[in-house]
Amino acid sequence: MRKEVLLKEEILSDVVLEKEINNCLLKVDNLMLKTKDEFFLSPNTNELKKYDLIGHTQWTSSFYTGMLWLSYEYTNDDKYKNLAQKHTIAARKRLEAGGGPVENHDLGFIYSLSAFTDYKFTKSEYAKNLVVDAADKLMLRYISNAKIIQAWGKMGEPGENSGRIIIDTYMNLPFLFRASELTGDNKYRDAAINHAKMATKYLIREDYTSNHTYHFDPTNGKPIKTTTHQGLNDTSCWARGQSWAIYGLALLYKFTNERFYLDMSINVLNKFIELLSEDGISFWDFDCNDFKDASAMAITACGVLELSKYTNYDENVSLANAIISKLINNHYISYDKNEDGILNHSCYHYHKNFGRDSFVAWGDYYYFEALIRLNNPKWDLYW
Ligand code: GLY
Repeated sequence: MRKEVLLKEEILSDVVLEKEINNCLLKVDNLMLKTKDEFFLSPNTNELKKYDLIGHTQWTSSFYTGMLWLSYEYTNDDKYKNLAQKHTIAARKRLEAGGGPVENHDLGFIYSLSAFTDYKFTKSEYAKNLVVDAADKLMLRYISNAKIIQAWGKMGEPGENSGRIIIDTYMNLPFLFRASELTGDNKYRDAAINHAKMATKYLIREDYTSNHTYHFDPTNGKPIKTTTHQGLNDTSCWARGQSWAIYGLALLYKFTNERFYLDMSINVLNKFIELLSEDGISFWDFDCNDFKDASAMAITACGVLELSKYTNYDENVSLANAIISKLINNHYISYDKNEDGILNHSCYHYHKNFGRDSFVAWGDYYYFEALIRLNNPKWDLYW
């Protein structure tokens, strides 16, 4: 799709924006009745369009927490903050318990929207300490010989995940920059920068499409091969991976001030737009035409709004607005009280048959973040 065509989408009026934010608040209120103080949400909705109630165990647990903070910021109602702070305690318990739920790169997603955002609003020492402890845990995944953060699996264990990086980790790097800001210790930031250089070299292709994952020899950093995990195949372009890169690279520019990351984010974005199908909503992989992944659109909209802070303000705000407008006008948003989710028609994990054509926790979060950003261009990052 040509960018000019996408930009022709009818722009959201202030009235529609307010209506959409109010819909998000209603959905969050309904979730609060359902989860009480105890539960978190499954990554995707079930066939009844409901999130299952689970413990704080998934990479997605804090997207609900992030929505509570967005709700608090918009309404100033303490009920959202109070529950979000209980989520910080649950996130601390998760870290203390150790094991599988904290043996992955997702610590960035999880503790940015819980501990870091809590600290941002409340300046609580408890939250600040949790940022540092979670960042220390994430640092255990940094392999200094290879200058990479291993995404999955127990460190040191042989197997396909040893020395493997994935494109999603771009969004976990801001957390390490935050840990350096809070502690004054540059080791977190240095690791993030080293990983970012390797990720950009080996995950972004020459034509600005992206690989999902790349394997290195962890003992010496020797590059081995690219593979996919969630994309159609090793040479296709997984849409959500491309959107993680757009937003993550824009954030890398914010934290490093290196023009290289800004240009890279813009190029990856332009490729994303070019590959969009005629209706302007991405399929889950750009080589497929079965299931859509609306969550990739919401992540991209947030990335474009981040870019608008550094370049082409008017065009980028209009572009993000057009993306969100397209989701609304093409009936991707649920206003139904019986459905838990907000942004419908995403695709979690095609190969495992998880959440094909469903609501996903991060889709709802990034859609809400995009609305809050459109409402307040000075929105201060939770990342
Ligand atoms: N970060 C996992 C996913 O995007 O599915």
